[in-house]
Amino acid sequence: MSQQALPPSWQHVGRHAVFPDSALDDTARFDFLANLNGYLATQLSPKVKLAYEQRVKPAFEKEKGRAPETRHEVRKAMAADGIYQTWSALRRSSMEMRQQAGRGLVLKQVDALIEKARALNASDDGLQLDASVKVPRYSSAVDIHCMPGGYHTELLADDVSAAANYDCGIFATTGGMLGRYNDGGGQALAQWLQEQHPQFKPRRILDIGCTVGHNIVPLAQAFPDAEVIAIDVAAPMLRYAHARARALGVNNIRFRQANGEALDYADGSFDLITTSMFWHESSATAMPRKLREIHRLLAAGGLTAHLEQPQYHGMDPYEQFIRDWDAYNNNEPFWSVMHEYDLRQMMAAAGFEADRYFETKVRGVVDRDIFPVASESGEDHGRAALWTMFGAWKA
Ligand SMILES: C[S@@+](CC[C@H](N)C(=O)[O-])C[C@H]1O[C@@H](n2cnc3c(N)ncnc32)[C@H](O)[C@@H]1O
Repeated sequence: MSQQALPPSWQHVGRHAVFPDSALDDTARFDFLANLNGYLATQLSPKVKLAYEQRVKPAFEKEKGRAPETRHEVRKAMAADGIYQTWSALRRSSMEMRQQAGRGLVLKQVDALIEKARALNASDDGLQLDASVKVPRYSSAVDIHCMPGGYHTELLADDVSAAANYDCGIFATTGGMLGRYNDGGGQALAQWLQEQHPQFKPRRILDIGCTVGHNIVPLAQAFPDAEVIAIDVAAPMLRYAHARARALGVNNIRFRQANGEALDYADGSFDLITTSMFWHESSATAMPRKLREIHRLLAAGGLTAHLEQPQYHGMDPYEQFIRDWDAYNNNEPFWSVMHEYDLRQMMAAAGFEADRYFETKVRGVVDRDIFPVASESGEDHGRAALWTMFGAWKA
């Protein structure tokens, strides 16, 4: 058995003034889940692969006279395999238990959380909600990644419970790989900009689909003189995101309820437009619309940069199948098709010149205070800390 780093305990999660209060039992629940996920990713997952190589693939080859060529063929062939079924059922249970743990913690203190957010949100005019913004069907029709009520559902006036649940559980789901404030992606982008483009000093930054602001906060900190606008369609996320940012002492982000498909800013309003883990939750019709809007909103010489899970092109069908698990078992209806897109072509269709397009890999910045040992694999298929970053400079 290879030496693996244990996930950091949830007691190290980054707290702030709207983070839910917790007891030892909550830490124990999240620690159990982080370790279960770690076990599934590092111990059981290799055995699933062994079952594929030693049983399922040879049986497929015997029947068809060739190896499986697509992830769909691999998925159908693996569906009846016992070890895959065990791994998959445990993974799904772990997602459901994570939601129960987070919601159980949040709902028993929801009134106090709403009051804390209200107090912080009253401190300035950086939160702009708009009840006329409709949550698109692609973001509301299913409970994305088993999150009851999705991002947008409000149970009470000024509700923040969905956001507090999102914030407290992601550290366990990712095994702390994104840092105590779950901001490793935003930190990676800020670091990439500082290292690769030190002259680039955006004055206005737009982040689309900011959720609770995990990844826009480090960018706002990296560019403290910039005016940052973070939008989302879900009011509970924005209330919490604004309160969280202010609680963390970050005052240059304005949080607005708006739909990234059509925004009311003038052409060329932004120097930098970002998203993080956003596109796999956009429908096939919404994504091109949003990309065209980004092109319109970007100033000449501006940059758009997007952090996502790796695309499937050139990836072995088995690896694709494992990464595709979320599409079939974790309520991610756009995941599978999104990871097939030709992003260069989509960006070109949105107006970006082909020679201004780039694709690179960035690894979420690991918080060495809580994660002193670098993980051997660094990967937890589906929630990896290694992302594709694609984007373009506007001519
Ligand atoms: C996976 S989360 C993004 C995570 C976030 N960027 C981060 O760094 O933690 C997707 C978010 O996009 C929002 N969203 C979905 N459709 C949108 C749209 N058309 N315009 C703006 N936000 C949208 C959802 O409400 C949700 O908060």
